[in-house]
Amino acid sequence: MADHAILAGKRVLLVIAGGIAAYKSLELIRRLRERGVTVRAVLTEAGARFVTPLSVQALTEDTVYRDLWSLTDESEMGHIRLSREADLLVVAPATANLLARMAAGMADDLAATVLLATDKPVLVAPAMNVRMWQHAATQANMALLESRGVRRIGPNDGVMACNEYGPGRMAEPMEIVDAIAGVFAAESHRPLAGRRAIVTSGPTHEPIDPVRYIANRSSGKQGHAIAAALAALGAEVTLVSGPTRLPDPAGCRVTHIETAREMLAACEAALPADIAVCAAAVADWRVDGAGDRKLKKDGGAPPALALTENPDILATLSRPGERRPALVVGFAAETGDVLAYATAKRARKGCDWIVANDVSPGTGTFGGSDNTVHLIRADGVESWPTMPKDAVATRLAEAVAEYFTGK
Ligand code: C5P
Repeated sequence: MADHAILAGKRVLLVIAGGIAAYKSLELIRRLRERGVTVRAVLTEAGARFVTPLSVQALTEDTVYRDLWSLTDESEMGHIRLSREADLLVVAPATANLLARMAAGMADDLAATVLLATDKPVLVAPAMNVRMWQHAATQANMALLESRGVRRIGPNDGVMACNEYGPGRMAEPMEIVDAIAGVFAAESHRPLAGRRAIVTSGPTHEPIDPVRYIANRSSGKQGHAIAAALAALGAEVTLVSGPTRLPDPAGCRVTHIETAREMLAACEAALPADIAVCAAAVADWRVDGAGDRKLKKDGGAPPALALTENPDILATLSRPGERRPALVVGFAAETGDVLAYATAKRARKGCDWIVANDVSPGTGTFGGSDNTVHLIRADGVESWPTMPKDAVATRLAEAVAEYFTGK
């Protein structure tokens, strides 16, 4: 359980949307207030069909904000001030409809407007029928919101008010309290604040002609996760990404490039930086003299592609000099003798750390969600258990933070 001491004195703006789980939000208000949280509530029109404004008002001991067009509400508070005067916005229950409106950036009632107008962290507790939750539209909306930095708690599995079973039940009030404490704890843990980081991610595409290119199977999942994890610890992150199917991670500046040479130029433009993490699978070679005319099949011999070497971004950033980042981290994807090759690579590239992993067929690392890595530093090797790429990213970001804070 998260430490609740952090909650005292915090201000939560609770948005109650129209779902049967709204009755649990009354209890949530009680549990938060017991812990010293000031709760101000916005009730949607549908929300007011499930819980009465009077109950919400009695529990928050404050006005209940309901109407974007209310002269009284707007003159007393104003929708911008409502979000400005909160440390966190919590949407519980978050209905399929409100999630859709949030994802679309709509501002058609007070709830949607405060959620659009805020720059504060937002936590949603979805609650809806299982098929509504599992619908591709809701899943896409949720994924989009999460990629923009919205946090989520639940939904839980179980029997729902509609007598169906599955994911869709709103998280219990105490689980939401824990999640709120977790958000505040994460917000106050920013050991990389004031540090600049460059992260490369994804494959590169090297043109053969205007329509064809050489590429590789990198998904970018690990690099993107590292960019997000460094940003979560307070770093100012520039992510230089090759073509991937991933959304831009929250809290990072993202430069999209295609070729290795463009990736190098984007990295150099992002200097100076304290940290560089080269997780991209950069093509070693490009086609020499790739022209602007499509190669034609003319019945003769197939064209011979001459390759020429691409710049090594990791080695370039590692080169000693004034602009060298204090900590340069490379990756080594190997298919056997991982530690020996990776240790040699660390020396050859001149970087400080190498994150080595085994990408042999069958390990599922390429494109998969898990990764098994070894962190190779000057003073030895640390082997981490297999874990999701997000967890590898968090642990690596924590190691980076320790390097700078000396803890
Ligand atoms: O040389 P190799 O590809 O095995 O090394 C892997 C490491 O080097 C990764 O960190 C990768 O991002 C980086 N690299 C690079 N530029 C290249 C080739 C590799 O930054 N042209």
